[in-house]
Amino acid sequence: CSQIPEAWRFDCYPERGVVVTAEMCHARNCCFIQNSQAKTSGWNGVPWCFYTPEYPSYELVSITDTEIGKVGKLLRNKKTYYPKDIDALQLEVLYEDNRLHVKITDPAEKRYEVPIDVPVVPKTASSNPSYTVDFIKEPFGLIVKRTQTGTVLLNTSIAPLFYADQFLQMSTSLPSRFIYGLGEHRSNFLHDLQWNTLTMWARDVPPMELTNLYGVHPFYLSMESDGMAHGFFMLNSNAMDVALQPAPALTWRMIGGILDFYVFLGPDPSSVIAQYLDVVGKPAMPIYWALGYHLCRWGYKSSDKTWNVVKEMRNYGIPQDVQWNDIDYMDSALDFTYDTMNFSTLPDLVKDLHKHDQHYVMILDPGISNSLPSGSYWPFDEGKKRGIFINDSNGDILTGKVWPGLTAFPDFSNPDTHEWWYQNLKSFHEKVPFDGVWIDMNEPSNFFDGSLNGCPENELENPPYTPGILGGTLKAKTVCASARQKISTHYNIHSLYGLMEAKATESALRKITDKRPFVISRSTFPSQGKYSGHWLGDNRSQWKDLATSIPGMLTFNILGIPLIGADICGFGGSTTEELCVRWTQLGAFYPFSRNHNSIDEQENFLPSDQEPTAFSPAARIAMKEVILLRYSLFPHLYTLFHHAHISGHTVHLMPELYIYIYIYIYIYIYIYTCVRTYNNSFVSSGGEEHFQQIIYTHILPNTTLWVSSGQPLNLIVSLSEDGLAKGDLYWDDGETLDTYEKDQYAYIYFTVEQNTMTSEVLHNHEEAAYITVETVSFYGVKVEPENVTVNSQEAAFTYHDNQVLTVTDLGLNLSRNFTINWM
Ligand code: NOJ
Repeated sequence: CSQIPEAWRFDCYPERGVVVTAEMCHARNCCFIQNSQAKTSGWNGVPWCFYTPEYPSYELVSITDTEIGKVGKLLRNKKTYYPKDIDALQLEVLYEDNRLHVKITDPAEKRYEVPIDVPVVPKTASSNPSYTVDFIKEPFGLIVKRTQTGTVLLNTSIAPLFYADQFLQMSTSLPSRFIYGLGEHRSNFLHDLQWNTLTMWARDVPPMELTNLYGVHPFYLSMESDGMAHGFFMLNSNAMDVALQPAPALTWRMIGGILDFYVFLGPDPSSVIAQYLDVVGKPAMPIYWALGYHLCRWGYKSSDKTWNVVKEMRNYGIPQDVQWNDIDYMDSALDFTYDTMNFSTLPDLVKDLHKHDQHYVMILDPGISNSLPSGSYWPFDEGKKRGIFINDSNGDILTGKVWPGLTAFPDFSNPDTHEWWYQNLKSFHEKVPFDGVWIDMNEPSNFFDGSLNGCPENELENPPYTPGILGGTLKAKTVCASARQKISTHYNIHSLYGLMEAKATESALRKITDKRPFVISRSTFPSQGKYSGHWLGDNRSQWKDLATSIPGMLTFNILGIPLIGADICGFGGSTTEELCVRWTQLGAFYPFSRNHNSIDEQENFLPSDQEPTAFSPAARIAMKEVILLRYSLFPHLYTLFHHAHISGHTVHLMPELYIYIYIYIYIYIYIYTCVRTYNNSFVSSGGEEHFQQIIYTHILPNTTLWVSSGQPLNLIVSLSEDGLAKGDLYWDDGETLDTYEKDQYAYIYFTVEQNTMTSEVLHNHEEAAYITVETVSFYGVKVEPENVTVNSQEAAFTYHDNQVLTVTDLGLNLSRNFTINWM
């Protein structure tokens, strides 16, 4: 046992809160070495109890070729220490292009599988795939290597494979320590491999380190030591631990479902993400105003108060596209109602927003009150009649508790629930013509553990192994694991609740508005980007939370949910003016930019206001400037979302900043430097290198993002040392469904070489004809030109010592090709 290096010890006793003794460990036939460094054995230290190299696992007893890969049979002839081992397994290996897909199932009995659509590939990958797969017979293991370099990307033979009814475990070595993804957690962007277990099970809790949070994303991106990248996705929705250790190695430990995983070959990080999104689905193209500035707070006591905030923003000329309301607008916190006393003017407020080209989003929670007199609350009465609520294990509607008191939870795995949800939304929309929906508390969050009556004692509530879930049990602050839903037990589909609710909401909004739906969801799962965006939950008004929002943005982009933001200025607690200004300067570059504030749980105490209008003139102006800057970059941001939608790219308004300047607390200084770069037309030496070779499209900002307002474009061209640059622009009407798919868009490509800029219309549409290019600024023109021509005609220009050439008064129609040349 002592021959096994500490970093390579795989935990044989991962149960939390247990001080493992030699007897307990030997009862599992494992090695026991007490490590004085760690206080207790287990999940975040060197394990005291670990597998021997001979520990029994499965044997690969047969393997044959299929049209698309291999199929094999695995047998275990010695029981593990968890009940109900599945002794005979089927191995399916699918050689797909740029990715390997492996499924290990029970051939005797169909087990639960995650109900998301993945591609079905009929035939094998090219004859020269980018990877090889070696099969180890006993103990069974798979070794996946990158053909080009021989790097081992996956090696599952390093620790025993477990496949019991409620305990599946697979370990793999990692080619490097560079692992990203694995949401949702509060952590650095780069995960720590020093004995770090990340637990996944959707949970309502203010974000903190080392705990499971709102969403579940069993996907990682790994950088290999030579700079190549690969990815790994475990398609499983059961509660799980992902244990990282310094070997470097990783162990997947799940309490149900099947082993169903993918390896993505990249070889660069953006291809890995795109390949992952080929499997789970690429993000939706957002409606244009989703990219504007949003204001929200819990604690606007009335619609007039909310309206005043909007009016003040208008008075100060601060851009705002969307006003939100939290649960305050509801009558007694009931979904699909509004408080006709305090929010009597809500319909008028929404109409007024629309008159000003602004939009309205309101919150909905899944909990539906079950205790109103029969006949007085259609959502519950009708839902009960249609049988769309989650039932307890006896088949009765499960009672939980959320803001309105006792509640039932809609079962979004049932298609009938989607119809009922749509009808509720539709009739509410007739009263309050909202534009988008914020779906909160959808882990689902429950103020009880399990239900009003607790949960039964059974193997779903008390599985043989419980991952390191906050609260220690599956039912902690949610519904019972043994609760029944249409397609499975809550045990299996708990972490899909937010995804399924988002799907129902997205499809309802499509029907109601006939425009691109705007949905923001707290709980998320792979493929969520197709239906909604996300915000990072209940952060606090403190500098640390400003800092941690950055890895959050980056991670959710890797996970295919680019419409991601964090509550600007902080949700819990009171902000300060400086924090709020700096956070607004950072948040103006979030893909989804919303300032949201809390009410305080203690009666009569509201954290201080944090709308931009609440501060001194200097602070207000600083915030206004940076939001205007965001608005001026809208064409560029919109184009980035287009690439996310069609090619699975990430969305970072300032990617160079995020990646290179990755010292959190100073990020705002750099961002501010760039702000000045744009506003004052000077390029700081630090900023310069980050802007090479990029052409940003830029409009004169207005206080709302009305795409067809005809505002002219200004192009900012940042030349490389060699005088090269490229950029592009996607443009459509901003709201029609599926414009790209239906060919209703314009796409323009810009290049610069040899002192000539070319604008080429690769796809034309009338929307582009409304837009003109007014100025083009070239940064990095080293010698003052004598002459500038536009489409071969002489043109007016200015040149500054800081190497900026600006060609003005262009009036060029975007829908026609043009060239600009300087000599
Ligand atoms: C929890 C959400 O995370 C928060 O943003 C919201 O304000 C409260 N619920 C009240 O609805």
